[in-house]
Amino acid sequence: MRVVLGVSGGIAAYKAALLLRLFTESGDDVTVVPTEAALRFVGAPTWEALSGSPVQTGVFERVDEVVHVRLGQEADLVVVAPATADLLARAAHGQADDLLTTTLLVARCPVVLAPAMHTEMWEHPATVANVATLRSRGIHVIEPASGRLTGTDTGPGRLPEPQDIHAAALAVVGHLPAEGAAAGTSPEQDLRDVRVLVTLGGTREPIDPVRFLGNRSSGKQGVAIVEEALSRGASVTAVVGSTEVPLPAGCTVVDAPTALDMDAAVRAHEDDADVVVMAAAVADFRPRTVAAAKIKKRFGEGEPEAPTIELVRNPDVLAGLVDRRGSADAPLVVGFAAETGDAAGGVLDHARAKLARKGCDVLVVNEVGPDKTFGRDETVVHVLRRGTEDAVEIAGSKREVARRMWDVLRSLAPRR
Ligand code: CTP
Repeated sequence: MRVVLGVSGGIAAYKAALLLRLFTESGDDVTVVPTEAALRFVGAPTWEALSGSPVQTGVFERVDEVVHVRLGQEADLVVVAPATADLLARAAHGQADDLLTTTLLVARCPVVLAPAMHTEMWEHPATVANVATLRSRGIHVIEPASGRLTGTDTGPGRLPEPQDIHAAALAVVGHLPAEGAAAGTSPEQDLRDVRVLVTLGGTREPIDPVRFLGNRSSGKQGVAIVEEALSRGASVTAVVGSTEVPLPAGCTVVDAPTALDMDAAVRAHEDDADVVVMAAAVADFRPRTVAAAKIKKRFGEGEPEAPTIELVRNPDVLAGLVDRRGSADAPLVVGFAAETGDAAGGVLDHARAKLARKGCDVLVVNEVGPDKTFGRDETVVHVLRRGTEDAVEIAGSKREVARRMWDVLRSLAPRR
């Protein structure tokens, strides 16, 4: 396949040399397009020697070959690693001021951007907005890894390892990763033709600019479901609320902090999914109004000592999805529920009633109670399927639960 490897100007540019080797060793024809700044970190001779082709940064060399248009038109895959904050900003705004950004505008093939920058830059609202814009256009922006940055500081912003970027890029174009390319990749690609949409994490319903109503969901089970699906070859879109753990490279991330955001994100992506797994803990209620300014503790004379927050119902994202789906090409819908037994029945009794009420195909039931489920690494779930009485009990790590859950779902999932 014809690959354009863009390299922008960050210290992690040296890792792109290893990424280049991974592509060339699997027989891909790679053209490296560094930015001017990238060449200050790793010089042109390195890229030319490793790729076997000349490199240029601007659009005014080899003008007769119309390189700035040809590269993007002919590419099967464009990967930019590292993608600096500046590169993300230029790409989001459609700038075309060098060969790399011009190629990004011309390309109609899958584009994968692997950001690397300091945590503050990654978390800045400008970068967050640029990433959201790029993702809304179908560009795959990989989540950066967390860890040691250029200086002594640590945090999210590190370029993922070259093997992980390589595996993520191959997954995006639907190719199997080369043997042993990605550590932890399952050799069994039994979800290869399956497009998965996963909601995960807890929603946060704003009260005022600094406060929200939230819940204790860590997102760990949802992340394990995403990791397992990716490692088995699925293409995954994750609709993500608040989580304690980072998302793996290789999935498309849609940020959805509130229940309304999650509802909109599911509506936007449901038609492209074969399986929808609703692992998110979605708030059933939100404050009717969000105060524009911080609610102060001091109230005036004659005013109540504490404010009253009026709640309104949120949409039930899962129920809405079930209502909307037609019979043809309908995705398999998997709900999650947290149950305790009570005087009216045991965990499974409540779960069977919920499966029928919610109208989903599969319900994964967590037994909750003190010391169970939230934020823990070990868990016990029961998987119930519509139309059958038996439940599959799975106990183990959240990744083990995810693995066995996909074993059940694999046989039920419609395929393209
Ligand atoms: N869900 C949703 N939208 C909501 C609430 C829940 O999509 N507003 C989804 C969750 O993602 C999960 C399932 O519905 O897949 C949970 O169903 P729910 O009836 O809320 O179950 P519990 O949280 O167990 O709550 P309860 O028993 O109180 O109804």
